[in-house]
Amino acid sequence: MDSRWVRLAKKLPAMLNTRKPEGHFIMPKNSTRQIGRRAFMLYAAAMGATAAWARPMGVASRQRWTERRDLYPDGVASGDPDSTSVILWTRRPYEDGRHSATLWVEVADDAAFKHVVATSHTAVSDVADWTTRVLVGGLKPSHIYWYRFVDEAGAGSRVGRTITAPLVGDTSSKRFAFVSCQSVNEGAQNAYRRMIWEDERAPPDQQLCFVLHLGDFIYEVVEYPEEVPHRYDRTIFDIGKVPDARKVSNFHVPTTLEGYRMVYKAHIRDLDIQDARARWPFVCIGDNHEFSWQGWQSFIKYDGKVEPAQSLRVAANQAWWEFIPSRVRKSSGPDLDRFDPPAVNNAPIERFDAEGLGDEPNNRLALGSMTAYRAMRYGRHIELIITDHHSYTMEDPTTRPEADAFELPDFPFLPEEVMEVLDAGNAYADRNPPATIPFDGKTIPNFRKDEPPITLLGAEQKSWFKRAIAESKATWKIWAASNGTLDWRVDPQNLPKGLTKPWPGGGYACFGGGDLSGIHTERAELYDFIRDRKIEGFVTVSGDRHSFWAGYAAKALPPRAFEPVGVAFICGSLSAPGLAEAVEHRPKDYPLSPLFVAERPGGKFETTINLTLKHGVRSALEYARSGDLAAARRLSNPANAPHLEFIDMGGHGYAVVTAGPTALETEFVCIPRPVNRNERSDGGPLAYRIAHRVKPWASGAAPRLERVVLEGTPPLVLFP
Ligand SMILES: [Fe+2]
Repeated sequence: MDSRWVRLAKKLPAMLNTRKPEGHFIMPKNSTRQIGRRAFMLYAAAMGATAAWARPMGVASRQRWTERRDLYPDGVASGDPDSTSVILWTRRPYEDGRHSATLWVEVADDAAFKHVVATSHTAVSDVADWTTRVLVGGLKPSHIYWYRFVDEAGAGSRVGRTITAPLVGDTSSKRFAFVSCQSVNEGAQNAYRRMIWEDERAPPDQQLCFVLHLGDFIYEVVEYPEEVPHRYDRTIFDIGKVPDARKVSNFHVPTTLEGYRMVYKAHIRDLDIQDARARWPFVCIGDNHEFSWQGWQSFIKYDGKVEPAQSLRVAANQAWWEFIPSRVRKSSGPDLDRFDPPAVNNAPIERFDAEGLGDEPNNRLALGSMTAYRAMRYGRHIELIITDHHSYTMEDPTTRPEADAFELPDFPFLPEEVMEVLDAGNAYADRNPPATIPFDGKTIPNFRKDEPPITLLGAEQKSWFKRAIAESKATWKIWAASNGTLDWRVDPQNLPKGLTKPWPGGGYACFGGGDLSGIHTERAELYDFIRDRKIEGFVTVSGDRHSFWAGYAAKALPPRAFEPVGVAFICGSLSAPGLAEAVEHRPKDYPLSPLFVAERPGGKFETTINLTLKHGVRSALEYARSGDLAAARRLSNPANAPHLEFIDMGGHGYAVVTAGPTALETEFVCIPRPVNRNERSDGGPLAYRIAHRVKPWASGAAPRLERVVLEGTPPLVLFP
C-alpha cells in the first residue's frame, strides 16, 4: 500500500479546501435604508468614501465614452448592496509614470445611459494598485442599475450591471446564487457562464439578485505548467508568475502584497469571472486560500512547521480589500481610497488568551486590519449572517504534530470519540478532560486537556453572531458560513472482517477537524442557542468542501439524539478539483478504495464515497462489488447519516437559493468536471439540476426537506 495515498486520503479534506481567512463593516442597520441625501453624505464622509447621490430623474449622458477594455483589464464589479446604495469598483492602471489619476463614474437606469441618475469623480492611484471604490446612494430599492467608468481622455470601462436590495418590508421571493472555490490555475469557470446564460433568459422575478461568494475567490497556491503540467485530471494553466514567491512543494505562494495582487488579477482576468462580476453585485467572504492554504489567525504552516506571518496576513487583507468591493471594516478607518495597512512585524506568537487567540500585539493588529464578518438584510425574508472562519480560529488539532500518534496507517479517518476529546479540550466531560486517550492498544497523552475548546469564530464574532441571529426578524436567517457545518462521518465498525485491519475505534469515524464537522463543542453551543431562543428559519449555506450537500443542522448524530434545528446546504466548487477526482488517481491496491470510488469497464468511475457517507461502508462495498443499487440499499445503515438528504462528492457548479414566505428552496446546478473552458454560450451541458425545498417549521419541530430532480441524471446516492 502506498503510504502517501493513505496520508493523502487522511489529509484530503484539509488539502482540498483548506481553511482559514478575514474580516466588518456594515452600515448600522437601517442606516441607509431610507435616509436622505444629507444623511447619506454625512455617512459617506464618515466612511471617507467617494460618494455619489442619485437624482430622482435621469438625464442623458453627456460624457464622452469609448469602451476600452484593454485599459481596464480587470473589468468592473459591485458589492454589498443595500436598499439605497451599493459600492462600485474598477481598476484603471497607468504606466506613464504618474501616481494617481481621476476617473468619472456614471450610474444609469438603462444600459444605453440615456437616463443617468448619478455621477461622481473618483481617484485611482498606485497606492491601491489603481483600484477604486465608489459608494453610490440615493438609489431605488430592488432596482437594476448600469454603471461605467471613464478616464479624462474619454476611455471607458465596460458597462456593469448591479441591483439594489429590496426594502425590509418587501414580501416578494428573492433569489441569489452561492458559490465557492474558483481556480483559474487548475480549472475553467464554465459554471459562471451557465449562470449568466440562464439569468439572461429568466423572467425578471426569477433572476438572481446577487452572488454570495463563500471564499477561495483566489487560490494563492500557484502552479507553473512548465513544472507541473497536470494534477489529477487537470491541465495546469499558465496564470503568470507570483513575484517574490515562496516555493512550497509544487506551489508558488505569495510572500508580499504584490504577490497577492498578482494572484487576484490572474483570477479576475478570467473572462467568465469578469463577466459574472459585471452582471451581479457580489457579497464575499474569504475562506483559507485568500490568506494561506494551511494558515489561521496570522500563522502559516508548511511541512508541518508553524511560522508567525503577521505581515503576510495584513498583505492578504489589503489585497482582498482592494479587489473585492465590500462593506468590511478596516482599522485604518472608513476611507475607501486606500487600505493604509498597520505596521506589523512577524514576532513570535507564543501565548494565547482564554479563547485561543494569539496574545501578541502584532497578531491582534494584523487581524484587526480588516474585520469582514457582517450581516445583510435583504427584504422581508432574507437575513444573511456572514462569518469569517479563519481570522480568529485555533489551529486544527488533528494537524498538530502531537496528533500524529493518532494516525492509523490503514484508515484515512479518525475515531469520533478521539475527535471529541481533541475538540473539547479542557471542557470535555464537564471540564474533566482525561489525561490520556486510549487508542489502538496504546495510551496517548491528551495534549488538549489544558486548552480551550476549538473555536472557529472566536469569542467576539460568536457574541456578534448570536446577537445578529436572535435579533433578526427575517423569515430565513441564513448563516453564510464559508466552511461546511454538516458532519462527514463513516461507520468503519461495520467493515467486514478481513478487508483490512480491524477498526480500532469504539464506533463511528470522522474525516478530521478544521470545519464544523469536527468542531462539535462550538457547533453545539450555537445550535443550543438557536433551540433555546426558539429561533425559526435557520439555514446554513457553505462552500469549501468542493462537493454538494443538503441536510439538517444537528449538533449530534445517533446513537445520541438527532434533533435538527435547521437545514444546511453546501455548494460544489465552481472549478477547483474535489475529493472524488483525487480518489480516481488513487493507488489501485488500497483495500478501502471501494469506499471512495468504483472503477468500471472502460475506465468509468462511480463515486461510491457518496454511498459511504450517506449509507455506510457496507452499502458502498456492495455497490462497488456488484453495481446493484437495490442490494446496496438493503445494507444501508440508517444511523450513519440521518442528517444528510443529498451528497455528491463529485459535483461542481453553483447553488441558487429562492427565499419566500412559504418556502426556501436551494437548487444545485451541477456541471461536468470543468477541466477546460467550454466555448458554448451556455458554458456547456448540465450534469443535473436538483432542488431541495423546506417549508417554515415551528420552533422545536423538525424541518423536512423535499427533493425535486429538475433535470439530468442525479449522482450515486439517490435511492430509493
Ligand atoms: Fe476551496
